[in-house]
Amino acid sequence: MPHDLLKDRVALITGAGQGLGAAVAREFAAEGASVALVEINPTTVSAVEAEIRSKGGRAQAYPLDITDHAAYRQAIEQVVARWGRLDILVNNAAIAFYATILDDTLENWRKQIAVNLESVYMGSKMAAPIMVRQGGGRIISITSVQGFVSSGMCGAYNAAKGGIIALTKSMAVELAPYNILVNAVAPGFMLTPMSIVDGVDETQSPDFLDWYVAKRKIPLARTGYPEDDAGAVVFLASEYCRYMTGQVLVVDGGLTSTF
Ligand SMILES: NC(=O)c1ccc[n+]([C@@H]2O[C@H](COP(=O)([O-])OP(=O)(O)OC[C@H]3O[C@@H](n4cnc5c(N)ncnc54)[C@H](O)[C@@H]3O)[C@@H](O)[C@H]2O)c1
Repeated sequence: MPHDLLKDRVALITGAGQGLGAAVAREFAAEGASVALVEINPTTVSAVEAEIRSKGGRAQAYPLDITDHAAYRQAIEQVVARWGRLDILVNNAAIAFYATILDDTLENWRKQIAVNLESVYMGSKMAAPIMVRQGGGRIISITSVQGFVSSGMCGAYNAAKGGIIALTKSMAVELAPYNILVNAVAPGFMLTPMSIVDGVDETQSPDFLDWYVAKRKIPLARTGYPEDDAGAVVFLASEYCRYMTGQVLVVDGGLTSTF
């Protein structure tokens, strides 16, 4: 159902090798954008690049670790050299380790803050001046319902996601004079490789199916799929979104609307 919503736009998506990042890349390309695919895993990202190109889309893979700021900066420069501009940044890549405050380690905390939060700051810091020069742009970051509420076991992840919400609001205020809109999307449960913990798909476990689906703790009674959230990202990147900044779109099937 593409409508050329992002015709002639250039977008950079982090974590584009699988899950939500790959879904956003596919939707953006189908809507006419050229997509720069930043991803630490060279194998998955080249498969997404090939898939988009095989459908006539414009995609270029940039296999790198977003905590390597020099490599990330170089990729952004290459995107601008290749396509002449950068209109949309999607800060999506993240990692999750599970531990309580009693058994977590400072090393895990630092790693998650570096990948999940500092990269949002650095990516935005590097992309924003380009958007200022162009006269506008969009920065869209993927947070989580865990930025507002917690299931426990992931304090560093939650702190990073809460930090993204605060940073989104701060950047929205600072960049509004330059016509740069800054928003976030907060998925609830989403069926992606991240939801497979120790080989078990948490969205298919008996407990999940009983509590969240049969008992409708998720009022829409199913897990989310990457495409459900990708649609919200397309909206925020498109001209249908033009008077909204500093906001968080919650895409959780109603999960955080009930208790
Ligand atoms: N899956 C869920 O249930 C869920 C729920 C809420 C929010 N989210 C958020 O949605 C976003 C996408 O998650 P997903 O479920 O698609 O995860 P995923 O693990 O399937 O995909 C994340 C991608 O990011 C890449 N990546 C990780 N570290 C990187 C690094 N240092 N440099 C470059 N790339 C890196 C991974 O290789 C992977 O391809 C994340 O921000 C996540 O926190 C996911």
